[in-house]
Amino acid sequence: MAASGEPGRQWQEQVAAAVVVVGSCMTDLVSLTSRLPKTGETIHGQKFFIGFGGKGANQCVQAARLGAKTSMVGKVGKDSFGNDYIENLKQNDISTEFTYQTEDAATGTASIIVNNEVKTLFNPAPAIADLDPRFYTLSDVFCCNESEAEILTGLEVRSPEDAGQAAQVLLERGCCIVIITLGAEGCVMLSRTEPVPKHIPTEKVKAVDTTGAGDSFVGALAFYLAYYPNLSLEEMIKRSNFIAAVSVQATGTQSSYPYKKDLPLYLF
Ligand SMILES: Nc1ncnc2c1ncn2[C@@H]1O[C@H](COP(=O)(O)OP(=O)(O)O)[C@@H](O)[C@H]1O
Ligand SMILES: *[C@@H]1O[C@H](CO)[C@@H](O)[C@H](O)[C@H]1NC(C)=O
Ligand SMILES: *[C@@H]1O[C@H](CO)[C@@H](O)[C@H](O)[C@H]1NC(C)=O
Repeated sequence: MAASGEPGRQWQEQVAAAVVVVGSCMTDLVSLTSRLPKTGETIHGQKFFIGFGGKGANQCVQAARLGAKTSMVGKVGKDSFGNDYIENLKQNDISTEFTYQTEDAATGTASIIVNNEVKTLFNPAPAIADLDPRFYTLSDVFCCNESEAEILTGLEVRSPEDAGQAAQVLLERGCCIVIITLGAEGCVMLSRTEPVPKHIPTEKVKAVDTTGAGDSFVGALAFYLAYYPNLSLEEMIKRSNFIAAVSVQATGTQSSYPYKKDLPLYLF
Protein backbone atom coordinates (compact mmCIF):
# COMPACT_ATOMS: atom_id res chain seq x y z
CA MET A 1 0.00 0.00 0.00
CA ALA A 2 2.71 2.47 0.96
CA ALA A 3 4.72 3.87 -1.88
CA SER A 4 8.38 4.69 -1.42
CA GLY A 5 9.14 8.38 -1.27
CA GLU A 6 6.44 9.10 1.26
CA PRO A 7 7.63 11.15 4.23
CA GLY A 8 8.69 8.96 7.11
CA ARG A 9 9.05 5.87 4.98
CA GLN A 10 12.80 5.87 4.75
CA TRP A 11 13.66 5.60 8.41
CA GLN A 12 10.84 3.16 9.03
CA GLU A 13 12.71 0.54 7.09
CA GLN A 14 16.07 1.23 8.67
CA VAL A 15 15.81 2.72 12.14
CA ALA A 16 13.82 1.31 15.03
CA ALA A 17 11.45 3.71 16.73
CA ALA A 18 12.70 5.32 19.93
CA VAL A 19 9.18 6.01 21.14
CA VAL A 20 6.52 3.37 20.66
CA VAL A 21 3.00 4.25 21.73
CA VAL A 22 0.35 1.60 22.36
CA GLY A 23 -3.05 3.23 22.53
CA SER A 24 -6.06 4.70 20.86
CA CYS A 25 -6.60 6.56 17.59
CA MET A 26 -9.99 8.29 17.52
CA THR A 27 -11.70 10.50 14.99
CA ASP A 28 -13.28 13.48 16.72
CA LEU A 29 -16.50 14.74 15.16
CA VAL A 30 -16.91 18.19 16.61
CA SER A 31 -20.08 20.28 16.32
CA LEU A 32 -20.05 23.80 17.72
CA THR A 33 -23.49 24.71 19.04
CA SER A 34 -24.79 27.38 21.38
CA ARG A 35 -26.14 24.69 23.73
CA LEU A 36 -26.57 20.94 24.05
CA PRO A 37 -29.69 19.48 22.41
CA LYS A 38 -32.34 17.94 24.67
CA THR A 39 -33.05 14.24 24.18
CA GLY A 40 -34.41 13.75 20.68
CA GLU A 41 -34.10 17.43 19.78
CA THR A 42 -32.47 18.70 16.59
CA ILE A 43 -30.69 22.06 16.84
CA HIS A 44 -28.65 24.21 14.48
CA GLY A 45 -24.89 24.16 14.75
CA GLN A 46 -22.51 26.99 13.83
CA LYS A 47 -19.58 24.90 12.75
CA PHE A 48 -18.50 21.31 12.25
CA PHE A 49 -15.07 19.81 11.87
CA ILE A 50 -13.33 16.48 12.01
CA GLY A 51 -10.22 16.22 14.15
CA PHE A 52 -7.67 13.57 14.90
CA GLY A 53 -7.67 12.48 18.53
CA GLY A 54 -7.30 9.47 20.78
CA LYS A 55 -4.95 9.72 23.74
CA GLY A 56 -2.37 7.29 22.39
CA ALA A 57 -2.13 8.92 18.97
CA ASN A 58 -2.08 12.41 20.50
CA GLN A 59 0.95 11.49 22.60
CA CYS A 60 2.64 9.92 19.59
CA VAL A 61 2.03 13.01 17.43
CA GLN A 62 3.49 15.33 20.08
CA ALA A 63 6.61 13.17 20.46
CA ALA A 64 7.01 13.01 16.65
CA ARG A 65 6.65 16.78 16.25
CA LEU A 66 9.53 17.25 18.69
CA GLY A 67 11.66 15.06 16.44
CA ALA A 68 11.25 11.56 17.91
CA LYS A 69 11.27 8.47 15.69
CA THR A 70 7.91 7.09 16.63
CA SER A 71 5.69 4.12 15.94
CA MET A 72 1.99 3.88 16.69
CA VAL A 73 0.66 0.51 17.80
CA GLY A 74 -3.12 0.40 17.66
CA LYS A 75 -6.19 -0.23 15.57
CA VAL A 76 -8.49 1.92 13.52
CA GLY A 77 -11.59 0.95 11.61
CA LYS A 78 -11.53 -0.39 8.05
CA ASP A 79 -13.35 2.67 6.76
CA SER A 80 -12.66 6.15 5.46
CA PHE A 81 -12.00 7.53 8.98
CA GLY A 82 -9.47 4.75 9.50
CA ASN A 83 -7.81 5.45 6.14
CA ASP A 84 -7.66 9.17 6.92
CA TYR A 85 -6.21 8.45 10.34
CA ILE A 86 -3.38 6.37 8.92
CA GLU A 87 -2.68 9.17 6.46
CA ASN A 88 -2.59 11.64 9.38
CA LEU A 89 -0.02 9.50 11.20
CA LYS A 90 2.13 9.35 8.07
CA GLN A 91 1.86 13.13 7.64
CA ASN A 92 3.30 13.41 11.14
CA ASP A 93 6.18 11.11 10.18
CA ILE A 94 4.95 8.31 12.42
CA SER A 95 5.51 4.67 11.45
CA THR A 96 2.20 2.93 10.78
CA GLU A 97 3.74 -0.51 10.39
CA PHE A 98 1.82 -1.67 13.47
CA THR A 99 -1.29 0.47 13.04
CA TYR A 100 -3.86 -2.08 12.03
CA GLN A 101 -7.28 -1.71 10.46
CA THR A 102 -10.15 -3.80 11.76
CA GLU A 103 -13.83 -4.36 11.02
CA ASP A 104 -14.55 -4.05 14.77
CA ALA A 105 -15.04 -0.71 16.48
CA ALA A 106 -11.87 0.76 17.93
CA THR A 107 -11.73 1.05 21.70
CA GLY A 108 -9.22 3.24 23.46
CA THR A 109 -8.39 2.42 27.06
CA ALA A 110 -4.84 2.93 28.18
CA SER A 111 -1.58 3.79 26.56
CA ILE A 112 1.91 2.69 27.20
CA ILE A 113 4.95 4.38 25.81
CA VAL A 114 8.09 2.35 25.45
CA ASN A 115 11.54 3.25 24.17
CA ASN A 116 14.17 0.81 22.98
CA GLU A 117 15.71 0.20 26.36
CA VAL A 118 12.13 -0.58 27.25
CA LYS A 119 11.50 2.26 29.59
CA THR A 120 7.77 2.36 30.07
CA LEU A 121 5.63 5.39 30.65
CA PHE A 122 2.11 4.46 31.64
CA ASN A 123 -0.85 6.81 31.39
CA PRO A 124 -3.95 5.27 33.02
CA ALA A 125 -6.57 7.02 30.92
CA PRO A 126 -9.43 6.63 31.37
CA ALA A 127 -8.73 5.51 34.92
CA ILE A 128 -10.53 2.67 36.67
CA ALA A 129 -10.42 2.19 40.43
CA ASP A 130 -9.44 -1.47 40.24
CA LEU A 131 -6.56 -1.06 37.81
CA ASP A 132 -4.51 -4.26 37.48
CA PRO A 133 -1.81 -3.82 40.17
CA ARG A 134 0.89 -4.91 37.73
CA PHE A 135 0.55 -1.57 35.96
CA TYR A 136 2.02 0.07 39.06
CA THR A 137 4.97 -2.27 39.38
CA LEU A 138 5.76 -2.69 35.68
CA SER A 139 5.91 0.93 34.57
CA ASP A 140 8.98 3.11 35.07
CA VAL A 141 6.99 6.31 35.00
CA PHE A 142 3.34 6.44 36.04
CA CYS A 143 1.74 9.67 34.86
CA CYS A 144 -1.86 10.69 35.42
CA ASN A 145 -3.95 13.82 35.88
CA GLU A 146 -5.72 14.93 39.05
CA SER A 147 -9.06 13.24 38.36
CA GLU A 148 -7.35 9.98 37.42
CA ALA A 149 -5.33 10.18 40.64
CA GLU A 150 -8.58 10.64 42.58
CA ILE A 151 -10.17 7.58 40.97
CA LEU A 152 -7.08 5.44 41.54
CA THR A 153 -6.45 6.46 45.16
CA GLY A 154 -9.88 7.52 46.41
CA LEU A 155 -8.27 10.72 47.73
CA GLU A 156 -9.45 14.19 46.76
CA VAL A 157 -6.84 15.92 44.59
CA ARG A 158 -7.39 19.69 44.45
CA SER A 159 -3.94 21.12 45.17
CA PRO A 160 -0.26 20.29 44.81
CA GLU A 161 -0.29 19.15 48.47
CA ASP A 162 -3.17 16.73 47.79
CA ALA A 163 -1.37 15.50 44.68
CA GLY A 164 1.73 14.81 46.78
CA GLN A 165 -0.33 12.60 49.08
CA ALA A 166 -1.98 10.74 46.20
CA ALA A 167 1.45 10.26 44.59
CA GLN A 168 2.66 8.74 47.87
CA VAL A 169 -0.16 6.17 47.69
CA LEU A 170 0.68 5.32 44.08
CA LEU A 171 4.38 5.01 44.95
CA GLU A 172 3.48 2.56 47.72
CA ARG A 173 1.65 0.44 45.13
CA GLY A 174 4.98 -0.14 43.43
CA CYS A 175 5.59 2.74 41.02
CA CYS A 176 9.18 3.98 40.60
CA ILE A 177 8.23 7.48 39.54
CA VAL A 178 4.82 9.12 39.84
CA ILE A 179 3.81 12.33 38.06
CA ILE A 180 0.40 13.91 38.64
CA THR A 181 -0.47 16.74 36.25
CA LEU A 182 -2.47 19.65 37.65
CA GLY A 183 -3.49 21.77 34.66
CA ALA A 184 -2.41 25.39 35.11
CA GLU A 185 -0.64 24.36 38.35
CA GLY A 186 1.87 22.25 36.41
CA CYS A 187 2.50 18.96 38.14
CA VAL A 188 3.83 17.10 41.15
CA MET A 189 6.50 14.43 40.95
CA LEU A 190 7.59 11.80 43.42
CA SER A 191 10.14 9.03 43.01
CA ARG A 192 11.56 6.18 45.03
CA THR A 193 14.96 7.83 44.98
CA GLU A 194 13.55 11.22 46.04
CA PRO A 195 10.53 10.32 48.15
CA VAL A 196 9.50 13.91 48.91
CA PRO A 197 6.81 15.29 46.57
CA LYS A 198 8.05 18.14 44.40
CA HIS A 199 5.71 20.69 42.82
CA ILE A 200 6.89 21.78 39.38
CA PRO A 201 4.86 24.84 38.28
CA THR A 202 4.34 25.72 34.64
CA GLU A 203 4.23 28.93 32.62
CA LYS A 204 1.47 31.45 33.22
CA VAL A 205 -0.24 31.58 29.86
CA LYS A 206 -3.58 32.59 28.43
CA ALA A 207 -5.26 29.21 27.93
CA VAL A 208 -7.51 29.07 24.86
CA ASP A 209 -8.25 25.32 24.76
CA THR A 210 -6.80 22.85 27.24
CA THR A 211 -8.11 19.74 25.42
CA GLY A 212 -5.29 17.28 24.96
CA ALA A 213 -2.83 19.15 27.19
CA GLY A 214 -2.16 15.99 29.18
CA ASP A 215 -1.34 14.06 26.01
CA SER A 216 0.98 16.82 24.83
CA PHE A 217 2.72 16.60 28.21
CA VAL A 218 3.02 12.79 28.10
CA GLY A 219 4.21 12.84 24.47
CA ALA A 220 6.86 15.43 25.29
CA LEU A 221 7.98 13.48 28.34
CA ALA A 222 8.34 10.33 26.21
CA PHE A 223 10.47 12.34 23.79
CA TYR A 224 12.80 13.50 26.58
CA LEU A 225 13.02 10.03 28.14
CA ALA A 226 14.01 8.59 24.78
CA TYR A 227 16.30 11.33 23.46
CA TYR A 228 17.66 13.14 26.52
CA PRO A 229 17.99 10.37 29.11
CA ASN A 230 20.74 12.29 30.89
CA LEU A 231 18.47 15.16 31.85
CA SER A 232 17.15 15.05 35.39
CA LEU A 233 13.52 14.05 35.65
CA GLU A 234 12.74 17.49 37.00
CA GLU A 235 14.26 19.14 33.94
CA MET A 236 12.34 16.80 31.60
CA ILE A 237 9.12 17.72 33.42
CA LYS A 238 9.87 21.46 33.25
CA ARG A 239 10.38 21.23 29.50
CA SER A 240 7.28 19.05 29.04
CA ASN A 241 5.28 21.59 31.07
CA PHE A 242 6.51 24.30 28.72
CA ILE A 243 5.46 22.34 25.62
CA ALA A 244 2.04 21.47 27.05
CA ALA A 245 1.58 25.15 28.00
CA VAL A 246 2.20 26.06 24.35
CA SER A 247 -0.47 23.54 23.31
CA VAL A 248 -3.17 25.17 25.47
CA GLN A 249 -2.69 28.49 23.68
CA ALA A 250 -4.23 27.23 20.42
CA THR A 251 -7.52 25.45 19.70
CA GLY A 252 -7.94 21.78 18.97
CA THR A 253 -6.02 18.76 20.12
CA GLN A 254 -3.33 17.64 17.68
CA SER A 255 -3.73 20.90 15.76
CA SER A 256 -2.41 22.76 18.83
CA TYR A 257 0.72 20.63 19.31
CA PRO A 258 3.91 22.53 18.55
CA TYR A 259 6.69 21.35 16.24
CA LYS A 260 10.35 21.49 17.24
CA LYS A 261 10.93 24.37 14.79
CA ASP A 262 8.40 26.54 16.63
CA LEU A 263 9.93 26.02 20.07
CA PRO A 264 12.87 27.73 21.78
CA LEU A 265 16.24 26.09 21.10
CA TYR A 266 17.05 25.63 24.77
CA LEU A 267 14.42 22.88 24.95
CA PHE A 268 16.56 20.65 22.71
N1 LIG B 1 -4.03 26.52 31.82
C1 LIG B 1 -2.80 26.01 31.64
N2 LIG B 1 -1.72 26.82 31.64
C2 LIG B 1 -0.49 26.31 31.46
N3 LIG B 1 -0.22 25.01 31.31
C3 LIG B 1 -1.24 24.15 31.32
C4 LIG B 1 -2.59 24.59 31.49
N4 LIG B 1 -3.39 23.49 31.45
C5 LIG B 1 -2.58 22.43 31.26
N5 LIG B 1 -1.29 22.81 31.20
C6 LIG B 1 -0.11 21.93 31.00
O1 LIG B 1 -0.57 20.66 30.55
C7 LIG B 1 -0.28 19.64 31.52
C8 LIG B 1 -1.40 18.65 31.58
O2 LIG B 1 -2.61 19.32 31.87
P1 LIG B 1 -3.82 18.61 32.63
O3 LIG B 1 -4.98 19.51 32.50
O4 LIG B 1 -3.40 18.23 34.00
O5 LIG B 1 -4.01 17.26 31.80
P2 LIG B 1 -5.32 16.59 31.12
O6 LIG B 1 -5.35 17.12 29.73
O7 LIG B 1 -5.04 15.13 31.18
O8 LIG B 1 -6.48 17.01 31.94
C9 LIG B 1 -0.04 20.38 32.81
O9 LIG B 1 0.80 19.61 33.66
C10 LIG B 1 0.61 21.67 32.31
O10 LIG B 1 1.96 21.43 32.01
C1 LIG C 1 -8.13 13.72 33.22
O1 LIG C 1 -8.15 12.82 32.14
C2 LIG C 1 -9.42 12.24 31.91
C3 LIG C 1 -9.24 11.17 30.85
O2 LIG C 1 -8.79 10.02 31.50
C4 LIG C 1 -10.41 13.31 31.53
O3 LIG C 1 -11.68 12.75 31.32
C5 LIG C 1 -10.48 14.34 32.64
O4 LIG C 1 -11.32 15.42 32.27
C6 LIG C 1 -9.10 14.87 32.99
N1 LIG C 1 -9.17 15.67 34.20
C7 LIG C 1 -8.85 16.96 34.26
C8 LIG C 1 -8.97 17.60 35.61
O5 LIG C 1 -8.50 17.60 33.31
C1 LIG D 1 24.89 10.66 28.97
O1 LIG D 1 25.51 9.92 30.01
C2 LIG D 1 26.28 8.82 29.54
C3 LIG D 1 26.72 7.99 30.73
O2 LIG D 1 26.60 8.69 31.94
C4 LIG D 1 27.45 9.37 28.73
O3 LIG D 1 28.25 8.30 28.25
C5 LIG D 1 26.92 10.16 27.56
O4 LIG D 1 27.97 10.77 26.85
C6 LIG D 1 25.94 11.25 28.03
N1 LIG D 1 25.28 11.83 26.87
C7 LIG D 1 25.12 13.13 26.72
C8 LIG D 1 24.40 13.54 25.47
O5 LIG D 1 25.52 13.97 27.51
